[in-house]
Order: sequence, then C-alpha cells, then structure tokens
Amino acid sequence: MSKRPVQTSKVDPETTGHEWDGIQEFNNPLPRWWLWTFYLTIIWGVLYTIAYPAWPLVSGATQGLLNQNTRSDVAAEIQRYEDANAPVEAKLVATDLTAIATDPDLANYTQNAGGAVFRTWCAQCHGSGAAGAVGYPNLLDNDWLWGGTIEDIHTTITHGIRNTTDADARYSEMPKFGADELLEPAQIDQVVQYVLQISGQEHDAGLATEGATVFADNCAACHMEDGTGDRGRSPMPASA
Ligand code: HEC
Ligand code: HEC
Repeated sequence: MSKRPVQTSKVDPETTGHEWDGIQEFNNPLPRWWLWTFYLTIIWGVLYTIAYPAWPLVSGATQGLLNQNTRSDVAAEIQRYEDANAPVEAKLVATDLTAIATDPDLANYTQNAGGAVFRTWCAQCHGSGAAGAVGYPNLLDNDWLWGGTIEDIHTTITHGIRNTTDADARYSEMPKFGADELLEPAQIDQVVQYVLQISGQEHDAGLATEGATVFADNCAACHMEDGTGDRGRSPMPASA
C-alpha cells in the first residue's frame, strides 16, 4: 500500500475521529445506490421469511404464506409419476401373471419398475446382480429351491420362506438325526459317505454301501431315492 498524505483539501472532510497509524476514518455518506440496495435486501429478506418457511419454532418452523417447501415439491413430483403410471399399474393388476410378458407395454414397464424394486428390497441379500451369496440363493441360474416358474416365484415372494407368521410361507425342515438320536453315530458316518458318493466326491466305498440303506430308510422321503431332492414339495408340514 502506497502511503498517501493525509488529505488536506479546502474543506476538511468530517472524520469519525478514529485514527490509526496516521490514517483517519472519514465520515463520508454512503453512496445512494448502495444504501438503497441495502434497504431493498432488508425488505426482500423480511418478505421472504413471510412467504417461505423460515423462522424456527419449538417443533418445526413457520410454514410461509406461499405454502411452498421442498418437501411438498418432492411429494408433488412423486404424485406426478404415480398419476402417469396409474393406468399401466391398473392394467398390470388386472392382467393374469402369465400374460404380463406377452403385453409389450406391461413387459417393458414391469422390467424397469421391477429392477427398481429389486435394487430397493432384494439386492441387500441377493446381491445387486442377483447372483446371491452364501446363505442367499443365486437367482440367475435355473437351480431353484422353491420352484422357478412364474407362479412359484410369485408365491415365494408373496408369502416368504420359513416364517411362522404366514400360513402359506414356504416351509421345510430337516430332522436332527444325531442330536435326537434317530441315527447311531456309525450310521451317520455311513450315510455321509453315501452322500459324498452320490454327489460324485471322494468317499469310503465300504461305508457308502452301508449308507445306501440308511439313506433309503431315512432320507429318500425328502431327498428322493436318487438324492436329487424335492424341496418345493417337501413332505415336511409347516410347524403349525
Ligand atoms: C433379508 C434377506 C433377503 C431379502 C431382503 C430378500 N431375500 Fe429372497 N431369499 C433370501 C433367503 C435367505 C432365501 C432362501 C431361503 C431358504 O430357502 O431357506 C431367499 C429365497 C428367495 C427366492 C427363492 C429362490 C429359490 O431358489 O427358490 C426368491 C425367488 C427370492 N428370494 C426372491 C427375492 C426377491 C424378489 C426379493 C425382493 C423383493 C428378495 N428375495 C428379498 C433372503 C432374502
Ligand atoms: C423331513 C425331510 C428331510 C429328511 C428326512 C432329510 N432331510 Fe436333508 N434336508 C431337508 C431340507 C428341507 C434341507 C434344506 C435345509 C435348508 O436349506 O434349510 C436338507 C438339507 C440337507 C443337506 C444340505 C444340502 C445342501 O445343499 O447344503 C444334506 C447334506 C442333507 N439334507 C442330507 C440328508 C441326509 C443324509 C438325510 C438322511 C439321514 C436327510 N437329509 C434327511 C429335509 C430332509
């Protein structure tokens, strides 16, 4: 900053009396345009807080005369989409499950909307790509625990699996053969070798032969004679 000499014009300007290091503070009036802009911002500010939600209260805030806020904007936007989708939703509900895919409008709509539903409600467990994880079945392959037809999948999702609150829930249970002493430890060793054998793994041939009988007597009822399973129609009734 270049040092200026203290102004010494003919009319000595009024100062505020503040001085620091030889610099005096003049008491010049503020420019008119500036002052009016300043007043306008105050008026604007007051009107704004009257028109829009502004002043915090104990629980909430003043609503504003225009009754406008971002929350109602979002609600209106959601309503706009719901209204736009209402005809196709109504058609969807009225359409038979198996006929949805043959209607191009519905097929397109359900695939897009279903993708969003899946990402919201299913991806946490089945993975965003639906490939599953340990304990959560892969939905991409054609290996179904509870059936893979459109009706089967509809039932699975409608009633859920192994819950006790919906009488139509998918349900199956395997007895605890060891803990309940339904089988001797030796028989369990045998049937384990048999399961290894039928699933094409390394096994003890002698024990597996014995295990075949144990399997036929104790396991085939649910897992079928050849061990291929019958989960969706398990003879095990619901706990009720
Ligand atoms: C909290 C975790 C969780 C969520 C969320 C979830 N699932 Fe599942 N899902 C499972 C589990 C665990 C199973 C296997 C249950 C069993 O058979 O014991 C399963 C099974 C299924 C099956 C049956 C698979 C088969 O092989 O028969 C389908 C179909 C399915 N889920 C679809 C969905 C859809 C669609 C959604 C979203 C609307 C969803 N799931 C949400 C955990 C979940
Ligand atoms: C009352 C029906 C029932 C009987 C009897 C039964 N199981 Fe099971 N078993 C099931 C069910 C249901 C499951 C699946 C449990 C689950 O996923 O929650 C299962 C699962 C299994 C599994 C795990 C399969 C996997 O993919 O991980 C093995 C192994 C098995 N059973 C072997 C046997 C053997 C051996 C016997 C005979 C000693 C037997 N089970 C008897 C119903 C039965």
